[in-house]
Parts: sequence; structure tokens; C-alpha cells
Amino acid sequence: MLEGKNIVLGVSGGIAAYKACALTSKLVQKGANVKVIMTENAQQFVQPLTFQALSRNPVFTDTFDEQDAAKIAHIDLADTADFIILAPATANVLGKVANGIADDMLTTTLLATEAPVYVAPAMNVHMYGHPSVQNNMQRLFEYGYKFIEPGEGFLACGYVGKGRLEEPEKIVSIIEEDLHKPRLLQGKHVLVTAGPTREAIDPVRFFTNHSSGKMGYAIAGQASLFGAKVTLISGPTQLPSPPGVTRIEIESADEMYREVLRHYGQSDIVIKAAAVADYRPKETFDHKMKKKEGSLTVEMERTKDILQTLGEQKKHQFLVGFAAETNDPLRYGKEKLQKKHLNAIVVNDVSKQGAGFQTDTNAVTYLSRTGREVSMPVMSKQDIAKKLLICIREDIKEEE
Ligand code: PMT
Repeated sequence: MLEGKNIVLGVSGGIAAYKACALTSKLVQKGANVKVIMTENAQQFVQPLTFQALSRNPVFTDTFDEQDAAKIAHIDLADTADFIILAPATANVLGKVANGIADDMLTTTLLATEAPVYVAPAMNVHMYGHPSVQNNMQRLFEYGYKFIEPGEGFLACGYVGKGRLEEPEKIVSIIEEDLHKPRLLQGKHVLVTAGPTREAIDPVRFFTNHSSGKMGYAIAGQASLFGAKVTLISGPTQLPSPPGVTRIEIESADEMYREVLRHYGQSDIVIKAAAVADYRPKETFDHKMKKKEGSLTVEMERTKDILQTLGEQKKHQFLVGFAAETNDPLRYGKEKLQKKHLNAIVVNDVSKQGAGFQTDTNAVTYLSRTGREVSMPVMSKQDIAKKLLICIREDIKEEE
């Protein structure tokens, strides 16, 4: 897979720079043409000559050391790379690139390239966990950088924890696997909704449901891995954003309605896994309601049916609803498929063991208007998500 690939390896200044030597050697053994860029600090740990001998190419250390007058070295490296690997990536280099700083050969090349960039961070466990480093990594995720997470174990600084540069063999196999992966949804914009909504009755109380968001987040994450640009509109959950996904947080059904419609025009595929409230209190009090003797009656009114609205306004979009049912699920699912003008529906019998709300697993049936009916037994929500996206891709091809 790596035979003949032009790879730029960026080495920044951490003790794990010594592992980048083994990485260079592994890539060269696989037939890749490796060009190494070292930061000034990286040269404190390893000599450029080591990388030159291993890669059999000159090593780049200085933006202004132009060896070929016909080319500007950092632009040439940026343009000719099939991909760039940044290993080890220190907190400092991550911070610079995330904030558009280009003050040396490595950072100018990174900002100038349009090639994919794989980032393998390595640093002290507390530095890795620092909110500024996490925010910089999140920003780079959103720019499309692919992260190879550090391992856990003994760190050179004496701590034990997360921050060790992934082993060179593993870095190579992760990249090979990524290059191999089918990009089923490349070029598609996928809009996913997930989680519950909250319908307030006063500033401290609300009506909600048991949705954890796991099903919708799994779909968003897998769609991103399949190469889609993903927007996730999420009710309140405890879940971290899947890598590469743009998340928009909402609370009520009404807020979800507004955000979904705002993004509908640019979306190619819409998957509504959220458990949206069908009713909300007719009146919302500005102050906390006082406890009184006797019972309390709350008058509820219908929320807008977002899926129904999307069905009515559908143009080019492939629209997928979910149906959470507890009896005769297929009959009700088929009814919703027709009534809401959907392309497909995911019927979720939430009374089944290992399926539905909160669990890490689910069991569903995918039904589409092309007549496809795929029953998925209990499996992880991640696997369900993958299978659903494959069904959707097949149906889109069939409808085209
Ligand atoms: O989040 P988890 O804990 O992982 O649980 C996953 C799940 C059970 C929530 C999920 O798999 C699921 O079934 N989601 C749909 C839940 C639901 O609200 O189903 P429904 O049959 O009530 O609604 C049908 C469809 O209409 C859904 O796509 C829903 O998003 C949509 N809807 C509902 C009401 C409304 N006002 N607007 C809508 O768009």
C-alpha cells in the first residue's frame, strides 16, 4: 500500500523523536519515499544525519535553506506529498498548527499542504489532558487531521499514563488500514440528530425521555469515518463529540426544529435518531413554580413534527427516520415511512432485550421505499450504524 508513496514525516521536539527513526525505516522498507522535516528542538534529540541515512533523502530543517533554486522547498514538499505524518507531535507544534502559526520549515509545510495529515501526539500525561491541548486537537480534527492516539504506559518524564507515542509498527498499520478503508460517503453531507429533548415547565423542571444519544452519535462517527462531512444536532447527552463531526447543541424540540431546517438545504442524507418530544407544556413559567396542596395538572401541546416537515420539503435529500415502537413495530414503521415521505425508516423495537434506549447495543430493521428490508439482530450500536450507512448508500445508488 505504501510502495511508491511520497511521505513527508514531520518530527518535532520530544524524546519520542527517537521512535521516528524506526518509523522512517519501516516506511522505507515498505517502498515509500520518505522526506523528513525536523524542528529545531527535534535536533536536540536526534541528529538529522540519522534520518538522512535511514530515508536516503536530504533532511529539511530550515525554511530558508533552499537547496534547489528552481523550487521553494516547503511548497514543493507540501504539494508533492501523498500524505504527511507528524510523529511525534508535541503540544507546541499542535498549538501552532491549530492556530495558523507557521514559523519554521515544519509548520509552513503543514499549513501549505492539501494532503491528508496523520498526527501521532506524544507528551506528558498532564500536558495531553490540558484543555488547551485538547481544544487544539479538536480544532485540528475539525480541519480533517487524522489522529493516532498515544498509548498508555511508562513515560520518559517518570509518569505512567497516556502520552506515549504509538509504536512505529502500529502507526504504519493504522495508516495502511486508513488508506484501505472504503470511503463510502466521500463528498456527502450527512445531518444526524441524536439524544433527547427537554421541554421546560419552569427554569428548573422539564419533561424528557431516556435517550442517551449513543445511537445517533455512533451513526455520526461512522459516517465521518466513511468520509462524509457530518453535522450532528444533539440534545443534552454525556457523550464526547465523535472525531471530525461538527456538533450543534440544542435543548428543546423547537430548537432542534430550527437547527435541522437551517442545515437541511446543504444536506444529502438526513438521519433522525433523536427522541424528540411529541408534547411540551403549553405554558412555561419564568419563575420556579411554587408547591401547592393537591395535585397538579399540566396542559401539554403538540411540538412540531420535524420529520414530517422534512418529508414535505424534501428535494434531493435521502431522508431516514427512526421509529421507536413497543408493539407491532414493522406495521407502525411502514406507516411512518409512507406518511412522512421518507426514503427509509429504522424500526427500533425498544421493548427487546439489548435494544433501544441507553444500551451500548441495539437491534433494528431497516426498511426503505426501494423495498429493501434488512433485519439486524442485537449488536453494538457502532456496528448497527455501519450497516445502516451501507444500506443507505446502496439505496441512494439504486434511486440514482
Ligand atoms: O439515544 P439512545 O439511548 O442510544 O437510544 C436510541 C433511540 C432508541 C432513541 C433510537 O434508536 C430511536 O429509536 N430514535 C427514535 C426515537 C423516537 O422518537 O421515535 P418516534 O417513533 O417517537 O419518532 C419517529 C421519528 O420522528 C424519529 O425519527 C424522531 O426523531 C422524529 N420526530 C419525532 C417527534 C417530533 N416532534 N419530531 C420528529 O422529527
